[in-house]
This record gives sequence, C-alpha cells and structure tokens, in this order.
Amino acid sequence: MDHLDHNRKMWDARVKVHTRSDLYATKRLRDGGLALDRIEIDALGKIAGLDVLNLQCHFGLSTLSMARMGAKVTGVDFSGAAIEAARELADELGIDARFIHSTVERLRGVDASEYDVVFASYGVLCWIGDLDAWARTAFEPEFDT
Ligand SMILES: C[S@@+](CC[C@H](N)C(=O)[O-])C[C@H]1O[C@@H](n2cnc3c(N)ncnc32)[C@H](O)[C@@H]1O
Repeated sequence: MDHLDHNRKMWDARVKVHTRSDLYATKRLRDGGLALDRIEIDALGKIAGLDVLNLQCHFGLSTLSMARMGAKVTGVDFSGAAIEAARELADELGIDARFIHSTVERLRGVDASEYDVVFASYGVLCWIGDLDAWARTAFEPEFDT
C-alpha cells in the first residue's frame, strides 16, 4: 500500500469519529452558525457571490460555513467517507454545496482555475507527500502534474 492509500484509509476511518466529536464545531453549524474561527472569517473577507473551492474539506464544516456566508462552494477530499458525510450534512441542513471526491495533487472533476478563491485551513499540508503538486493545484491549476 503506498503513502496515499495508507493515508486515505486512515482518514476514511476517522470520519465517523470526527462527525461525533466535540472537537469539531458541528453543533455550531447545526445551530445555524459558522464552524469557522474568527481568523478564517477575517482572512476570507467578503465572499458572498464568489466561487470558493475548499481543498481537503473533510466532512464539510468549513465548506458549508462558507456557503452560509453567501459563497458558491465546492469541497474536495480524497476520502470517500468524508465526501459522503459532507453531502449528508449539506442535505440535513439544506445548504447548497458541491462535493468532489479527488486527491488535491491530481484534481479530478473540477477546474480550480475557475474559482475566485481557493481555501485550505487547519491540518492539511502535513498529510501531503508531494507538496509541489499540491501547490500547483492551489496556485497554478492549469498545470497538470
Ligand atoms: C484535518 S482534515 C481537514 C480539516 C479541515 N481543514 C477543517 O477545518 O474541517 C484533513 C483532510 O485532508 C484530507 N486529505 C489528506 N490528504 C489528501 C489528499 N492528498 N487529497 C485530498 N484530500 C486529502 C483528509 O481526507 C481529511 O479530510
């Protein structure tokens, strides 16, 4: 099993733990608020009406929060379990969002260059084996690795 498959398996298993954990601000989102910290909200600024791509969206908390801020959102994650949980949460909360199952390094099913904002937050880079490929998706999306 290579690094990516090993890592994906670990994340698939973590999803059902994290969706039930108080470490994540799921309750805040369910209560109608945002699951983003002040530093993230300030960094994002006014995103209403913008197309936002959220790299490594996990089970959707940040992506759905940005939708609540008025953005048109797409979340990407390589964990099928995470994408499934994110879609379920979006349905439950009636929030319009698109979730794509793909690695960031070789992004499939979405063209990052079409987005106004590409967002990634806590706990993303430490899992990436090929940081150059990750950065090309985030900053030079037309470059196919
Ligand atoms: C710590 S979580 C991200 C949490 C997220 N920033 C938040 O605030 O909710 C890391 C995520 O990265 C995803 N991930 C790890 N390596 C990836 C890769 N190469 N491509 C896409 N997703 C990846 C995992 O499945 C996991 O959902």
